[in-house]
Amino acid sequence: MNIGVLGAGQLGRMLALAGYPLANRFIFLDTTGHPSAGIGDVMILNLNEEGDRKHLDAFLAKVDLVTYEFEHLPVSLVRAIEEVRPVYPSSEAIRVCQNRAEEKVLFDRLGIPTPAYRLVEHADELEAAARELGCPVVAKSVTEGYDGKGQAVLRDPGEAHDAWRSINHPRLIVEAFVEFVREVSIIAVRGRDGEVVFYPMAENQHIDGILRYSIAPMPDLDDSVQQTADGYIRALLDELDYVGVLTLELFQTLDGGLLANEMAPRVHNSGHWTMDGAVTSQFENHLRAIQGLPLGDTAARMPTCMVNVIGREGDAAQILAITDAHLHRYDKSERAGRKLAHINLVAPTHDALLAKVRACAAVLPDAPPPRFSFD
Ligand SMILES: Nc1ncnc2c1ncn2[C@@H]1O[C@H](COP(=O)(O)OP(=O)(O)OP(=O)(O)O)[C@@H](O)[C@H]1O
Ligand SMILES: [Mg+2]
Repeated sequence: MNIGVLGAGQLGRMLALAGYPLANRFIFLDTTGHPSAGIGDVMILNLNEEGDRKHLDAFLAKVDLVTYEFEHLPVSLVRAIEEVRPVYPSSEAIRVCQNRAEEKVLFDRLGIPTPAYRLVEHADELEAAARELGCPVVAKSVTEGYDGKGQAVLRDPGEAHDAWRSINHPRLIVEAFVEFVREVSIIAVRGRDGEVVFYPMAENQHIDGILRYSIAPMPDLDDSVQQTADGYIRALLDELDYVGVLTLELFQTLDGGLLANEMAPRVHNSGHWTMDGAVTSQFENHLRAIQGLPLGDTAARMPTCMVNVIGREGDAAQILAITDAHLHRYDKSERAGRKLAHINLVAPTHDALLAKVRACAAVLPDAPPPRFSFD
C-alpha cells in the first residue's frame, strides 16, 4: 500500500517508521516549503502557484490512499484530492478541526462542555467580550495556531487593542481562562467499519503553550472520568464518520469535570508515549484504521512519560544511560522553541517513573522542572 501523507514533519516521519513493518510506502506532500520528515518520498506543492496541479497529479499517481499529519491546509485542496483517491479522515473532518470556531460549535451541538467563549472580528468586539466573560481571557486566532502561537492572554479588557494587533488575524475566539487542576487528552481510533478503541488518558504539562511532558496512564484517574472522555470523543468520531486517530485536549477542573479545549485530526504529541508504553502505538493504529485493518490493543504496558526535547538536543549518551529510556530524534536542526525529539521513559511504578523523569530533565538543556498534579 502506497500511503500519501499531507504534511512532512516529525509526525509523518513517525507514521512512516510505524508503517514500514506493514510494508507500507510513504509519499509526503509538503505545502510549507520546509519538509523535515527525512524519510520516504517528499514532494513539494506550491499553494500560491495555480499551475501546480502538475505536482499534485504526480503525487496522486503514486498513492493508493491519502491521510494527514498536518491539518492547516486549504479544504479545497483536500476536496480535490478526495475526488481522485480515498482520504482518511475526510475533508469534512479537516474543515471542522482546522477552525476553532467550527470545533466549538460542534462541541456545543454534541453537548460536550467547553470554556465560555465568544467569536469576534474587531478589536472593540474583543474588548467587549473580555468584559462580558471577565478577565483573564485567552484570545486565539480561529485558524492556523499551534504550540500557543496566535494567542494572547488578556488580564484586562484595556489590553484588547494591543492583543488584536499582536495576533493580527481577522477572526478570533475569546475564551474564559480556565483555572484547571490539570490538562489531559484522550486519543481514540476509529476504523473504516466504525469500530472505536480508546487509549488511556494522558496528563499533559504545557509551558508557554508548548507541551513539555505527558504521562499515561494517570495514576489517579477515576474510571468515570475516562468514560466521560471516551463518550465525548466517540460522539465526535461518529458525527464526523471519522477514520483514523483523533485527539481531544481537555481541561480537568476542581470538581473532576472536563472542559473540551480543542481537537486535532491526527496523531498527537500527547500520544507519543504509546510508541514505547502501549501495546500498539498511535501511529500503527492510525495506519491500521485507514487501511481497513483490525485495530490494535490500546492498553498501556507500564506507566510511561513522554519528555519533549525543545530548542536544544542534549547528550544522547546521557539520556540513553537511563534504564528503559527511548530516544526518538526528528533529525532537525536546533532552534529556540522547536520540537527536536522526545524521550519515552517507562517504569513499573509511578514513583519510579517520576524519579526517571527528574533524572532525564536534569540532563536536558533548558528542560523545565516536571510538575504533575498527583506528585
Ligand atoms: N481557555 C483557556 N484557559 C486556560 N488555559 C488555556 C486556555 N486555552 C489555552 N490555554 C493554555 O494554552 C495552551 C495552548 O492552547 P491551545 O491548545 O488552544 O493552542 P494550540 O496552539 O493549538 O496548541 P497545540 O500545540 O496543542 O496545537 C493550552 O494547552 C493551555 O495550557
Ligand atoms: Mg492544544
